[in-house]
Amino acid sequence: MKVQKTELQDLPTDLKRELLPQHVAVICDGNGRWAQHRGLPRFVGHQRGTDALKNLLRCCDDWGIGALTAYVFSTENWGRPQEEVDFLMTLFQRVLRQELREMVEENVQIKFVGNLSALPRSLQDEISRSMAETRNNRGIRFTVATNYGGRQEIVQACRAISDKVQQGLLQPDEIDEATFERHLYTAGICDPDLLIRTSGEMRLSNFLLWQTAYAEIYITETLWPDFDRREFHRALCSYQGRERRFGKV
Ligand code: IPE
Ligand code: IPE
Ligand code: MG
Repeated sequence: MKVQKTELQDLPTDLKRELLPQHVAVICDGNGRWAQHRGLPRFVGHQRGTDALKNLLRCCDDWGIGALTAYVFSTENWGRPQEEVDFLMTLFQRVLRQELREMVEENVQIKFVGNLSALPRSLQDEISRSMAETRNNRGIRFTVATNYGGRQEIVQACRAISDKVQQGLLQPDEIDEATFERHLYTAGICDPDLLIRTSGEMRLSNFLLWQTAYAEIYITETLWPDFDRREFHRALCSYQGRERRFGKV
């Protein structure tokens, strides 16, 4: 995260700092189409997608947004051709290794959420190292959802809670929303205020099913590798124009 003068380096003046989302979540979709539209193989889109994510992380940091969560691989994405899955796993590992030093220096706190034990061993090692090395950082909280599925997350939370009940550590009538949240992968991270999905798809695809209960949703036709500061600015303008009622009048 070297300081480089970029367009929209500072928070655009038409955005109100006090109304910024504290936590932005993104479904990074459209890498394959981005590449296909250029006659390139899908993997080029994935490579460019990692640049877009780095840029968004830097932008959130520049503009004073405290938490960013990115969905980069779902529990359903194992169903893709083996070469694509293998490419993605290798890409995640390489990018993580390349970027870790800068994230440590820039005070980023990185966390991976999902069923991490099913990832290749070498990627798991890189993930553990990155979380350990940035654990005490107090800058932006960057959460990467890898082999993540909202339903799988809810089921594993139920299992963990049932275990405690079985051991007598918890009574069934003590289970409330707060208990449940403490057993999700995202424990300790506030719910996203704004959920962005690129590439025009209007679905959650199993992302943060519990946590997005009251997120404002912003969908853009822009494909993920093209999602830049201007696009993010548009999303934030839309967000700041909303009235969040939370069921009230
Ligand atoms: C998102 O882009 C990246 C992953 C799901 C890993 P896609 O690969 O889904 O791109 P499209 O949707 O096929 O264009
Ligand atoms: C959602 O994108 C998952 C990620 C971006 C990681 P997909 O491309 O897998 O979603 P669907 O298949 O269009 O629902
Ligand atoms: Mg897709």
